[in-house]
Amino acid sequence: MSRIFVASLSAMLFLPAAAMAGDLRADANALFEPITPAAAAKVVKSNDLTPAKIELGKELFFDPRMSASQIISCNSCHNLSLGGVDAGSTSVGHGWQKGPRRAPTVLNAVFNVAQFWDGRAPDLKTQAKGPVQAGVEMNNTPANVEATLNSIPGYVAEFKKAFPNDAKPANFDNFALAIEAFEATLITPGSRFDKFLAGDEAALDATEKQGLRLFMDKGCVSCHGGVNVGGAGYFPFGVAQKPAAEVLPAADKGRAAVTKSAADDYVFRAAPLRNVALRAPYFHTGSVWTLEEAVSIMAADQLGVTLSGDETKAIVAFLGALTGEQPHVSYPVLPARTNGTPRPAQGLTSTTAAH
Ligand code: HEC
Ligand code: HEC
Repeated sequence: MSRIFVASLSAMLFLPAAAMAGDLRADANALFEPITPAAAAKVVKSNDLTPAKIELGKELFFDPRMSASQIISCNSCHNLSLGGVDAGSTSVGHGWQKGPRRAPTVLNAVFNVAQFWDGRAPDLKTQAKGPVQAGVEMNNTPANVEATLNSIPGYVAEFKKAFPNDAKPANFDNFALAIEAFEATLITPGSRFDKFLAGDEAALDATEKQGLRLFMDKGCVSCHGGVNVGGAGYFPFGVAQKPAAEVLPAADKGRAAVTKSAADDYVFRAAPLRNVALRAPYFHTGSVWTLEEAVSIMAADQLGVTLSGDETKAIVAFLGALTGEQPHVSYPVLPARTNGTPRPAQGLTSTTAAH
């Protein structure tokens, strides 16, 4: 796949500039799609997105009692006040352990082809079971999550409402389905870029338009296109030249660990770039703190081109226009624990394996 990609990419780069000029909005509309709530609902498979389920998923997302320590919630690492990520670099979880990768954002994650930097979970409901059990994240077990949920009458009633046909609804599968339903609402429509795509010429200024043109003509869009401006396919990190070891350490071979194929060594999902200006530091290592540097690395290592200072600035300006309306999430009041609720385990060792 990577070889075919490189061939088509170089064919594209040798097209005469005139063939690339064209009408900016028409060209952009052929390569990107606006974000809409209907688009999000369409991609979620076999999970009805009812209001009861979404509300329950929100509570679970914010509830630290889903972790063994009862200190860490999904929101600890996917902070909805910070663009759906933590403050960086790679995530810190159970017992202050530092994980190997940066948290990707949950905002618009519903649009990605698969979840995680290496795409190892096919969808959000499969993904949601991972962090709960990961030793370096929440370090819990499905049995303990179920015991906790069933010990809290407020949760039992809400699960019943969200999953009316199940005999024992407060279970781990339904936990994941409720979180998926909530995450499907975490989308950010209405960015200035979306307004431009829809026909508002003044939504982007001259520098941002130049950045959009460069993003398309230099070849960024061949990996970062579609509704999420990325997140749709897998590519080698280091197509033109190998990134520095702190950006791409030898030990993390990316998708090769999922497919068990050497052809996927150092292959990662193209990062989705919606709201990217909100979530430094960048890359799966969280090793690059400015967007300018991230863009220069991409140009040099993925495309083999050196951008001028002005070109980098224009692309960074365009990326800023990808910031959409952040979801308005009201902080949930969580149902109270009972005497039967399992107590926190705050030891420093992990009891479960990495997911
Ligand atoms: C300790 C920090 C931490 C906690 C807690 C945590 N996550 Fe994550 N999350 C991560 C990291 C790191 C990754 C990327 C791991 C990888 O790619 O190997 C990730 C990946 C994801 C992704 C994939 C996004 C994408 O674009 O690929 C989603 C969705 C997600 N987490 C949701 C959740 C949910 C839901 C919870 C709570 C049940 C949760 N996370 C708890 C750190 C955390
Ligand atoms: C060959 C495919 C490819 C091309 C071409 C490409 N990228 Fe990327 N991009 C990726 C991949 C893969 C990642 C994830 C790298 C990793 O594992 O950290 C990424 C990550 C990024 C990130 C970091 C986002 C984050 O959330 O950490 C930015 C910013 C970015 N690309 C911008 C660009 C720009 C601007 C261009 C054009 C100059 C470009 N990319 C060209 C594949 C590509």
